[in-house]
Parts: sequence; structure tokens; C-alpha cells
Amino acid sequence: MSKPKILVARAVFPEVIARLEAHFDVEANQADTTWSKAELIRRLQGKAGAFTTGGDRIDADVLAACPELRICANMAVGYNNFDVDAMTAAGVLATNAPDVLTETTADFGFALLMATARRITESEHYLRAGKWTKWRYDMFAGSDIHGATLGILGMGRIGQGIAKRGAHGFGMNVIYHNRSRLDAALEADCRASYVSKEALLKTADHVVLVLPYSKASHHTIGAAELAQMKPTATLVNLARGGIVDDAALAEALRNKTIAAAGLDVFEGEPQVHPDLLTVPNVVLTPHIASATLPTRLAMASLAADNLIAFFTGNKPLTPLNPAVLAIK
Ligand code: GLV
Repeated sequence: MSKPKILVARAVFPEVIARLEAHFDVEANQADTTWSKAELIRRLQGKAGAFTTGGDRIDADVLAACPELRICANMAVGYNNFDVDAMTAAGVLATNAPDVLTETTADFGFALLMATARRITESEHYLRAGKWTKWRYDMFAGSDIHGATLGILGMGRIGQGIAKRGAHGFGMNVIYHNRSRLDAALEADCRASYVSKEALLKTADHVVLVLPYSKASHHTIGAAELAQMKPTATLVNLARGGIVDDAALAEALRNKTIAAAGLDVFEGEPQVHPDLLTVPNVVLTPHIASATLPTRLAMASLAADNLIAFFTGNKPLTPLNPAVLAIK
């Protein structure tokens, strides 16, 4: 019997490709070429499955042009690159890669928070530029993490990981806002108190964004929200580009409406708003929050497991639209 055909849209670990090849006829993109939408559609012709990453958009046009497609497995926890409703309507299963990246991403969130609050990269650039000629009492004075108020917008698994690091490790007062309130046991575990978004913005010394991107969360932080924050506050975005209005943030950083920001994700990435590149009080990283090799391998393996389970008649591990399975 011939093997199902799948497309792996981006370069991935060779051992994951080898594993997929044991089950599928695989077309892989190990050259990691950036494909246009038309090229993605062309490559998906005749494919029953796709291994995607967060940059590969699967929408109604792609689905209409690729009627043989039955499953798309995303190597990311976020799945705003999928139009899940359109996939469900087309009978295409969507899967993501949650859990395996939670602790690694929470570690990174904390690293970005600390680098931002303590001005690590700004001071390193100063040193590398040969500008450090003498010590001064207020040189690169930042803000404290320990004992400060940490405000987390979006209290899913990664938000909870950041809350625990803050509360248990650094004695922070943790407040959060989320679509729904956590149950009392989880709140106690995270030592976190539920507040309104407005109260969070007004009282937090450090605001960390970990909410999923959707039309509803577009520009959750814009000029009005930045104006509500303390002038000494920092803002960290490790969720998705588009949750912050990057142009408004660059202006707020330039005007010192807030003290500093740390960004791992950007509107229109890998493009970065040019104004963000010219303000010194922002730490910029290229969407690497989950980037440790063991975690990236676990994410890729989970996407592969989902494809293998689906085509071997087993239940995929992390389906986003399980109704599709019920119909089959
Ligand atoms: C990374 O951004 C992910 O969603 O996994």
C-alpha cells in the first residue's frame, strides 16, 4: 500500500524527518526556503497532511485549493496561522504543540523581563561601543524584580509558569487578568490575585503578555493602555505580534511614557517596526522564547506524533478541532 503524502513546510530536525519517512511519502523543505502562498498551495497538491510552523498560513483559500488535505500539524502552541473555523468546515484536522514548551517559554519570559528591567542589552551595547570610561552611581540604573508587582495578562500554562517563578523565586506580588478566572487551587499555587485589566495596567511594575492572538486580542496594548501604565513600568511581549501596537509602543518608549520593553514577537515579523530599532530602552529578540534544542525537538516530535496517530487510526494527541474526528 502506498504511504500517505505529506509536506513538511519548513526545515526541521533530520531525525524527525527520518521518523516521518517511516510512515509517509515526505516532501521536506530542508533548504528552509520561504514560500509564497501560491508556492505553498502548489507544494500541497496531492498531500494528505502538512507539518507547519507558525509562519505557514492555512486559510480558506489554501483549503479550497488543496482538497486532498486532511490534517495540518503545527509545531507551535500558538495557532493563529490556522483559520480553525475554515479547517473545521473543510473537514481538516488542526493540531498544535502545547505543554512541551511551557517551562522553557516561562524561563525565557523571565529572562526577557530581567534583561528589560535591568537594562542588560542596553548596557552591553554601551560597553561594546567603548563608551565605558568610568563608573557612575546611576549608570544604567534599572528597576527591581524582587518584591515588585508582576502583572500577567493571559494566565494559561505559560502565564502560570511565569507567575510561579515570580512569586516563589523572587517574592513578587503577582496579579493577573484573563478571560476567565483560575480556580482557587491554581490561584493559590501561583500565589496570584485576579484583577481587572485596568487595575493591572495601573498597578503593575512589570507587565508580561502571554495571551493568545485573535481578532479580539489585536492591539490589547495600544497608546491608551500604555498611558495607563506607570512611567517606571516595563512591558514584555512573548505572546504574538499584533497584541501590542508596535508603533504606539515605540512612541511610548521614546517619550518615556513607560520605562522599557522586552519584545520577542512583532507585528509583521520577521519585519520589526523601524522606530523600535531606534529606541534604546527596548530589548529585542527574534521569536526565540521556546528555543532550546530539547524543547524544539519535543515540539517537532509532538507534531510528528499527531500526524502519525491520525494516519494510523489512533487519536491525535492535541487536536484543536476534534469535531472533525467525530465526523470521520
Ligand atoms: C511559539 O510562538 C509558539 O506558539 O509555539
